[in-house]
Amino acid sequence: MDMDQAVQALKNNQVVALPTETVYGLAGSIESDEALNKIFSTKSRPFFDPLIVHVKNANQGQNWAHWDPVSEKLAQYFWPGPLTLVLKKKDNVSDLITNGGPTVALRSPNHPLFQQAIEKLGAPLAAPSANMFGKTSPTSALHVFDEFAGKIPVVDGGECQRGIESTVIEVRKDEKIIYILRPGVVTQKQLQDFLQDQDINFKVKTKVQNHSPGHLKNHYQPEVPFVLLKGEGDDSYIESLEKVDSRGWKPMELPSDASMAARVLYSKLREFSKKDQAFYFKVPHHWFKETDFQGLMDRLEKACIGELIGSQGQWRYSSKQ
Ligand code: TXA
Ligand code: MG
Repeated sequence: MDMDQAVQALKNNQVVALPTETVYGLAGSIESDEALNKIFSTKSRPFFDPLIVHVKNANQGQNWAHWDPVSEKLAQYFWPGPLTLVLKKKDNVSDLITNGGPTVALRSPNHPLFQQAIEKLGAPLAAPSANMFGKTSPTSALHVFDEFAGKIPVVDGGECQRGIESTVIEVRKDEKIIYILRPGVVTQKQLQDFLQDQDINFKVKTKVQNHSPGHLKNHYQPEVPFVLLKGEGDDSYIESLEKVDSRGWKPMELPSDASMAARVLYSKLREFSKKDQAFYFKVPHHWFKETDFQGLMDRLEKACIGELIGSQGQWRYSSKQ
């Protein structure tokens, strides 16, 4: 579908898949409750999971939320880009977007096609990732096509450059803390560096939200069994493990660089699903410690069914269920 057709469809209360720099989004006008309902029904997404509103820029965001000075500075610095700000909502935001809550999540995506769609429609777009609820997010137009069996129109913007979702944060002025509600492309270190550069005396903390599906234990899941291998094992261990414990399972290879790995992760998960091939990933030790890998580790832990944990030559399986 081309951009003019997409904008026409959005004006007609339809949903359209659009590329962003993180993943493809299933977009609908925030001024149409009909479109917002279609987002939930298309994905089989429960209403308790609030949507991100995609705005052209912070200026447009002023119409929909009350801003604090630190969030304003964050938007100035990181937008357009993969940072989502949770702010106090204004009354004009539909309850379908916020699940009736007092806050709304805003982000300005860094993709020319998504920006064009907002511009031509003249309204912000609500857009969750364009996949069935709980499943792997799409990073190409073909992924979206496969996910919805060709029933949802897609504007093809090539492969997403970032590959995992935006970082969702909330600034708490009263506590002088920026809470990371969902780790993502923007790292804790980048946020800390920003605060230091701007002389803002706030801390950055990660806070898990249990009520939000982005934070359920199972998310981003492939259609085949996938386990993480954590342990002290060297490669011979891995080989014997492959033979004995997980016969026939195949290793997933990822680049060692955090942003390169993020970029290909969802494609890899989908490849194994397509081949109906169970697989495992051996997590390099330093990935647990370095904040660059926080977003990636979050996705891996939610996508797997469990973990094989090794120490001193013994391996045990720990299921998440
Ligand atoms: O990169 C992204 O963020 C992609 C692209 C399409 O922009 N979008 C995305 O949307 O990942 P979705 O719906 O799959 O995830 C939205 C996340 C969920 O974890 C949701 O709980 C959280 O944002 N969220 C949305 N509104 C919120 C709010 N008011 N308070 C706290 N969390 C919120
Ligand atoms: Mg999602």
